[in-house]
Amino acid sequence: MSKKYTVTSALPYANGPLHIGHIAGAYLPADIYVRYRKSKGDDVLFVCGSDEHGAAITLRAKKDGVSPQEIVDKYHAINEKAFTDLGIDFDIYHRTSSELHHETASEYFKTLEEKEVFTQKTSEQFFDEEYQQFLADRYITGECPKCGYEHAYGDQCEKCGSALSPLELKNPTSTLSGNTPVMKTTSHWYLSMQKHEVWLKEWIEEGMLDGKQHHDPKTWRSQVLGQCKSWIDGGLQERAMTRDLDWGVKVPVEGADGKVLYVWLDAPIGYITATKQWASDNGKDWKSYWQGDDVELIHFIGKDNIVFHCVIFPIILRAHGNYALPTNVPANEFLNLEGDKLSTSRNWAIWLHEYIEDFENQQDVLRYALCATAPESKDTDFTWKDFQTRNNSELVGILGNFINRVVVLTNKYWEGKVPEQGELTIYDQEVLQAIKDSPKKIGYCIERYKFREALSEMMSLARLGNKYLADTEPWKLKKTDEVRTQTIINIALQLAASLSILSKPFLPFTAEKLTAMLNVSESAWEQSAEQLLSTNHQIEKASLLFSRIEDEQIEAQLARLG
Ligand code: MF3
Ligand code: ZN
Repeated sequence: MSKKYTVTSALPYANGPLHIGHIAGAYLPADIYVRYRKSKGDDVLFVCGSDEHGAAITLRAKKDGVSPQEIVDKYHAINEKAFTDLGIDFDIYHRTSSELHHETASEYFKTLEEKEVFTQKTSEQFFDEEYQQFLADRYITGECPKCGYEHAYGDQCEKCGSALSPLELKNPTSTLSGNTPVMKTTSHWYLSMQKHEVWLKEWIEEGMLDGKQHHDPKTWRSQVLGQCKSWIDGGLQERAMTRDLDWGVKVPVEGADGKVLYVWLDAPIGYITATKQWASDNGKDWKSYWQGDDVELIHFIGKDNIVFHCVIFPIILRAHGNYALPTNVPANEFLNLEGDKLSTSRNWAIWLHEYIEDFENQQDVLRYALCATAPESKDTDFTWKDFQTRNNSELVGILGNFINRVVVLTNKYWEGKVPEQGELTIYDQEVLQAIKDSPKKIGYCIERYKFREALSEMMSLARLGNKYLADTEPWKLKKTDEVRTQTIINIALQLAASLSILSKPFLPFTAEKLTAMLNVSESAWEQSAEQLLSTNHQIEKASLLFSRIEDEQIEAQLARLG
């Protein structure tokens, strides 16, 4: 059986637009990985969709005075379009408010319930008497017991970052009525995580599952392992998997009126639903992407989602039975903006849909800058100045300049026909060797989730091409040494053709233009090691791949922040 790669990106909440922090965290790296795998001919499925349940959405709806469905319909459409515009190429972008998802999540819950994975327990929880409603954690605010911040939420203080339970808040207030809530008895389904501690620890720390090597933990990022270990070492506890809310997947058990699945149970199952929908649209078998030893399940997420994907979801997958566990969860750290935390409420963000409008046909510039500064091992900072420099000196100055030169010269001297290669110098051979080595080098980095390094390897090849032309100056040789000139341009063109394949995971729009300019057909990843252009192959006229970004554009963007 050949491997199946099931790649997921965290389902974004459909309660607001996407910003660059989301993209750098969970979507761009996944897209690069998937494009690379597809170019290698691997069987890979890339799923995502809108996370349309949870208190964050109902709160937003209340604030705007509309129904939750209206909110999610609006942002589902906006976000789906923004992803498409940026070339984030999901095989399916599904939604958790769909009927298929409600069915899937509900069935899943029933199976867990039959297998006695949950224990039902009664407890006292906050209740708003005016609204006659139990209050989900997010519906309660109060004073943080750790730092004294007065508007901490029942699940977390946004000031100091502490995880809280609503009972810890001083002066709790209902965000619905503004009244002090009362305590009332309610019952919920709990997942006893501590029961799964033994196998989980072995799986996380050694990569062992049922006595077999499941994955190599050395390939996991150290921060991910670190967070998991500290969770497990701190002692796993039980956690409620249901909530008193009227928006979400109804708990499919009699007498559970007014209760829905906890959004963190519901949303990851959304990956499975999306797969089902895609499979039924494409005549495939969804199970082959979730079950069996040949499945590589890879979750791309931000660091705030680690515990859900490395502890809770694996417990749930295994407790259900018949599901593969993730082989890697390459979570990213956070991206800051101009030295400050991204913040929706302070409008300290670069919104994707605005970028797309302001920088028309420059999607690859953002992809490039975000990949080059990706927070793979620590938080990093995005600045507009850095964005401008990366465009002007790297994309325009190196990649664009190289391609433009070689295509212009080919058209000028030989009417766009690839000239013949003569005898090779050592320098020529070095360049050809670099072409040969590049796909392996770049692929090695991508397979280890080192996207920054992969991008820099790709740019090294472009840099070499640029330097090769600058060093050999074929435009000066033309009159005196035709054979040498032809050889140099031939080699430079071979390098350009390889770049049209190697750049594609990172810069898909540029790769497409380059492919058209060189008049080559799409080739598989490994073929970029070869000399792709035969003598006399006809290429097209040069067109610019990148254009300069001026200071005024950068200043305008800076003025917009905050
Ligand atoms: N909506 C959640 C967030 O943005 C992520 C959900 S990921 C999933 O943080 F696994 F639950 F789908
Ligand atoms: Zn606090």
